[in-house]
Amino acid sequence: MCGIVGYIGDEEATPVLINALKKLEYRGYDSAGIAVLGTESLIVRKAKGALKFLEQKIATEIIQGSMGIGHTRWATHGEPSDINSHPHTDVSGKIAVVHNGIIENHAKLRSWLEGHGVVFRSQTDTEVVAHMIDFHYNGNLLEAVQETLKRLEGSYALAVICESDPDRIIAVRKDSPLIIGAGDGENLIASDVPAILEYTRDVYYLDDRELAVLYRDRVEFFDEEGNPRNKELVHVEWDVAAAEKGGYEHFMLKEIHEQPKALTDTLRARVKTYSNKTIHLEEIGFDASWAEASRVVITACGTAWHAGVVGKYAFEHFARIPTDVDIASEYRYRKPIFNPKDIFIIISQSGETADTLAAMRMAKKGGARIIAITNVVGSTLAREADLVMYTWAGPEIAVASTKAFTTQLMCVYLIAMQFGSLRGTISEDELTGYIDALEQIPAQAESLLAHKEAIQRFASQQFNKTKAFFMGRLFDYAISLESALKLKEISYTHSEAFAAGELKHGPIALVDESTLVVAICTQSALFDKMDSNIKEVKARGATVLVITYEGEPYFDGTADEIFRIPRTLDPLTPILSVIPSQLYAYYASLQRGLDPDKPRNLAKSVTVE
Ligand code: F6R
Repeated sequence: MCGIVGYIGDEEATPVLINALKKLEYRGYDSAGIAVLGTESLIVRKAKGALKFLEQKIATEIIQGSMGIGHTRWATHGEPSDINSHPHTDVSGKIAVVHNGIIENHAKLRSWLEGHGVVFRSQTDTEVVAHMIDFHYNGNLLEAVQETLKRLEGSYALAVICESDPDRIIAVRKDSPLIIGAGDGENLIASDVPAILEYTRDVYYLDDRELAVLYRDRVEFFDEEGNPRNKELVHVEWDVAAAEKGGYEHFMLKEIHEQPKALTDTLRARVKTYSNKTIHLEEIGFDASWAEASRVVITACGTAWHAGVVGKYAFEHFARIPTDVDIASEYRYRKPIFNPKDIFIIISQSGETADTLAAMRMAKKGGARIIAITNVVGSTLAREADLVMYTWAGPEIAVASTKAFTTQLMCVYLIAMQFGSLRGTISEDELTGYIDALEQIPAQAESLLAHKEAIQRFASQQFNKTKAFFMGRLFDYAISLESALKLKEISYTHSEAFAAGELKHGPIALVDESTLVVAICTQSALFDKMDSNIKEVKARGATVLVITYEGEPYFDGTADEIFRIPRTLDPLTPILSVIPSQLYAYYASLQRGLDPDKPRNLAKSVTVE
């Protein structure tokens, strides 16, 4: 995710940049850096770790200069380190760049630049931007940035300064947020409003592919072609605490709403269109050797384990390969049977969960090749696994996982589909169809979130139910597990998940008038089975919420309430069908007067057994 800031005015830039970065640390805390343009030259200082390490580094130094840019990093390409920290500069150190986003064609640009004699210092995708701007620089920074943009693919919010063009900062965005704060004799740049509130409440929101040129006394805006744009100044009324949460009441709600973007980021760079759409997963060494595998083993804890349960169904469905999914704390104490040809996948948002790491180390000792799916670059899991696929969800602050989970699912689907294509269980045309469906999911998630009030209303009526049972079949069972966990974590409601077919084998004894049953019904071939299960629980007094497709009449009249998700392929529904449950848990928690971001007894990262 990362946060970027910029300042140009009459004050010393360094304290303003540091202060602004402090308000953006929630966007990343792997490293921080600043570049300040003094009277003579560009001064760049950066440090690995939280912002305080940068502050310590510059504490005894006087960095003079009234314009500069700054960055707080959430690593995506290249582990957290001093050298991979932003700002990045061109070879001569005259141009400095800070970036939030992902330059998807960075590898291609990097080899092109290396062919022109550029020697890279870092492993980041961002460094190519500094060198490209230098390559195009001919005395006019704005033109050099415009030329560079023509060659960049991916998402970016960029701020650029140049020693030879000393009175302006260039800012630009595409698919990553960026605002301009308009002050009195000073102007600022930031990824998010809280960073600038201390200096001004008047902001311009940059639109995609717009450029802003900040001078001390004015800001000019341009479109991609260089045509001037008029922008509306917006006065912000939020207080700082609300602004950090993007105007949402809690981080959890913000993160639920960030899912469309996180899903897009996780998917986009991995899909390429040549004659057909294809999936590219070089990062996990996806090659012919995979074809020799006869089993997939997935291990994780908690929500990440639920992503693994979806993974089991997905691998069996798309790649027709036997798949075991294991809870890491069980796996590590069992006597599992290893086969070096197994594909061994470990899923962990934090990459630091003690049981997950122990399971990974055990499997590694047994000769397994470890593929990690994690959200944190440089985490222990990322460092110790053989191969890593990152979920590009950005930092997840709320204890209850939401966007990390759905992006884990996206990764699992991409691997399963690509594997199916390699194993010949999916034809080229089928793969294209599946990728098309995946590509629609972020927008579908967005449209689903637009109707969140229906869930809010339902939660306000049902939050006092003492028991909540989630049931479903196949992929819907996997999401029942995750839904029940979410609700118990943050609302403290006693909630459980059942494979709907198991109902009669015991759980139905618990059903009475005090029970809320959420029936997840997206597996079309099993609608009649789910219908019978719903009737069984209704007959015993339960209140039933059905989650099914838009336009699906099957459950009309059966349930007390129906919440509808956009139609996709049945095996892909988990990414969408979990969202109503995330919202229900969130609103039930609020109704019970709890803080959904900080549930009792739970920690974001479980680094002890
Ligand atoms: C639930 C939740 C936890 C984590 C679990 C594993 O909302 O977040 O169940 O999924 O503690 O954590 P990671 O994924 O960091 O290994």
